[in-house]
Amino acid sequence: MRRLAMVAVLVAGCGGEGAPPLGVQPTLSSIQRSVFTPKCAGCHRDARDMPHKLSLVAGESWDQLVGKDSETFGGMPRVVPGEPHASALTAIAHSYHDMTAGDESAVWSWIEAGALDN
Ligand code: HEC
Repeated sequence: MRRLAMVAVLVAGCGGEGAPPLGVQPTLSSIQRSVFTPKCAGCHRDARDMPHKLSLVAGESWDQLVGKDSETFGGMPRVVPGEPHASALTAIAHSYHDMTAGDESAVWSWIEAGALDN
């Protein structure tokens, strides 16, 4: 229910630039700011040689995730737009990576809404 509410807010707010700060939102820019940059890019910062050539640095993460196959999940795509359950990014969220329930929910909703570069 909460996920649906957040998507509704996003659609109604049309991008949410002026939206009140409700924590991480299901947009790439919010996920980047609250999750990828502070929690992930310390390791995933150089697509040439960091874990599985995955960079989650701002400006690089979308290209690195959407439609790219993961290496650890037997070729499962990292992000399939509209299909969070088929996206390795949501699987890794349940292993050793430091994501809160709110982070995971935002990532799930972002993918479900089409994994836009927003
Ligand atoms: C302490 C370093 C470190 C941090 C921080 C980290 N990762 Fe990773 N990540 C790794 C390593 C090492 C691997 C490869 C080994 C593995 O898959 O278990 C990996 C693998 C991955 C993969 C699989 C890539 C592929 O192609 O198979 C994804 C997706 C991923 N990480 C996402 C994230 C996200 C999202 C965050 C932040 C919430 C994050 N990582 C934070 C070290 C890190």
